[in-house]
Amino acid sequence: MYNSKIIGLGYYVPENIVTNNDLKQWMDTSDEWIQERTGIKERRWIDTETSNDTTSLMGAKAAKIAIERAGLTKDDIDFIVFATLSPDLYFPGGGVEIQELLDMPTIGALDVRNQCSGFVYALSVADQFIKTGMYKNILVIGSENHSGGLDRSTRGRNVSVIFGDGAGAAILSRTEEKNKGILSSHLHSEGKYAKELALISPSTQKWVNTIIQENNPDDTSYYPYMNGQFVFKHAVARFSEAIIEGLQANQLKKEDIDMLIPHQANLRIAQFIQKKFQLPDNKVFNNIEKYGNTTAASIIIALTEAWEKGKIKDNDLVILAAFGSGFTWGSVVIRW
Ligand code: UT7
Repeated sequence: MYNSKIIGLGYYVPENIVTNNDLKQWMDTSDEWIQERTGIKERRWIDTETSNDTTSLMGAKAAKIAIERAGLTKDDIDFIVFATLSPDLYFPGGGVEIQELLDMPTIGALDVRNQCSGFVYALSVADQFIKTGMYKNILVIGSENHSGGLDRSTRGRNVSVIFGDGAGAAILSRTEEKNKGILSSHLHSEGKYAKELALISPSTQKWVNTIIQENNPDDTSYYPYMNGQFVFKHAVARFSEAIIEGLQANQLKKEDIDMLIPHQANLRIAQFIQKKFQLPDNKVFNNIEKYGNTTAASIIIALTEAWEKGKIKDNDLVILAAFGSGFTWGSVVIRW
């Protein structure tokens, strides 16, 4: 039986910074409202005039950094797990695009569709492949291009202001060290709330309408819908459950946590969780103020930044926790 551990991390965000005040050119909003409710100061949105970034391209850029930092080459990678809710194409998924962009051999590429929990699910999938001995080095990516599909008018402001673009990647690798690496992962979903945070069109039910969207200016189903307060309430409950489950599965206590990386949905949610688990500021890492909510990319961007800043050290107990559309939620417990 093998263990799996993260040996390389990387992230990439588009250059274009959109501050809260910049948003006023499209919608009626304010820096005060956004900062007070979400903690966000700015986000990255791809500038399509100056950049050719896409979900897959950003993912490939982050992946290159992670592969290099792992001391590997693209030819050492055995498998790709790619998490996104905003693939470049309706099909095929972005995993194969990454494989092509990185000029990799014909290894398998799997797409994970679990929105804000996408990276937690993707890491867990990769962990199983390594623990069974099937693969040695797996490239795990989370990447999102939200800006291409948001309603930038006042009508969509309760959703659009919170989302940002970006990508992150990790190399998960086989280790024979005992009690190191991913100790456990815990995944959940509750499909009865699927439409509380969803994008309805295009879909196999609505894609004919997509073609005639110009004739349906009032149809908002082409933009993400979110029942914000409902999602918020479920988020705080499920985040806590996922963390407690991860601690209990490993006979650990909240005092054992060295670093909690919560999905960056809303600073208020992260602060609620921090208070509930009585964690000091140096044991929770947030960067939502700079990037907004980058969905499947948020945890891996935050993990990479925390690691780059020296906030994660050898042997630390690191917990990743996520909640989002589906609803889906989960946690991963890592001994670094
Ligand atoms: O990542 C996946 C999981 N997602 C989450 O966890 C998100 C959870 N939800 C949230 O974070 C919050 O619900 C939001 C930040 C999205 C919204 O905050 P809220 O406190 O729930 O605001 P609200 O939607 O209830 O809106 C309150 C007021 C409304 O005005 P009235 O009806 O009280 O006059 C909105 O029209 O704020 C108004 N509003 C805005 N005002 C300025 C909504 N969006 C904006 C905006 N700028 N961007």
